[in-house]
Amino acid sequence: MTAEAHGSAAALKISLNVWRQRSADDAGRFETYHLDDLSPDMSFLEMLDVLNERLTAEGRDPVAFDHDCREGICGSCSLVINGRAHGPDLETTTCQLHLRRFQDGDTIYVEPFRASAFPLIKDLVVDRSAFDRIIAAGGFISARAGAAPDANATPIPKQNADLAMDAAACIGCGACVAACKNASAMLFTSAKISHLALLPQGQPERRQRALAMVAAMDAQGFGACTNEYECEAACPKGISVANIARMNREYLLASVMTRS
Ligand code: SF4
Ligand code: FES
Repeated sequence: MTAEAHGSAAALKISLNVWRQRSADDAGRFETYHLDDLSPDMSFLEMLDVLNERLTAEGRDPVAFDHDCREGICGSCSLVINGRAHGPDLETTTCQLHLRRFQDGDTIYVEPFRASAFPLIKDLVVDRSAFDRIIAAGGFISARAGAAPDANATPIPKQNADLAMDAAACIGCGACVAACKNASAMLFTSAKISHLALLPQGQPERRQRALAMVAAMDAQGFGACTNEYECEAACPKGISVANIARMNREYLLASVMTRS
């Protein structure tokens, strides 16, 4: 959609350097595209839509990128924009980033999330199924949780409910991995372990969950945490590194209790 069609007068010209890579075996390189008449109210992904419409009309291969909800809730959008996972805005997913954040004439670099545990599929799309395998190892409960009235009738200390809700906000986007120099998945894994460890419904598998999910995380090839805090800074949902400390306590306790 052009700036005129968007009802905005202040159109932007942007030079986009987009990472193009046909497959994991391709070397990959940046390709430059010049876009003009962009509305500042347009989202970053809408700008990629405009680019892809143009490439398709010209008979060229459109840029592959992940997206689904475009509402900041599914975790699909996964771009490194000017060197930052999800771009320059704090606690904002790529799909919620708008062109008004940029200046007329800006040059923007767009890359995929880079981590060996997230192998590249094409262009800006990476395979994040390693996260699914961590969840499959223990990110579930076996207790019958009942319907909403049952949940409301379950007494949970307010502080635990708040902390569990904060941890549950993780949308599994992978920005924490992309931002970390070690490509560590500890913020993601700790959010999932914390969410269930803080609730009564998560108690039956609590120990086994901590051991299994940490083991699965290590098996997927993610790096270790060296307290850089880049994960927390890049997280679009404000997940705190305090969850990593909780995961370490859960893991230690589970290790000791399993041995005794
Ligand atoms: S912890 Fe944050 S950055 Fe990491 S997957 Fe969850 S929402 Fe994304
Ligand atoms: S497309 Fe769903 S969070 Fe961005």
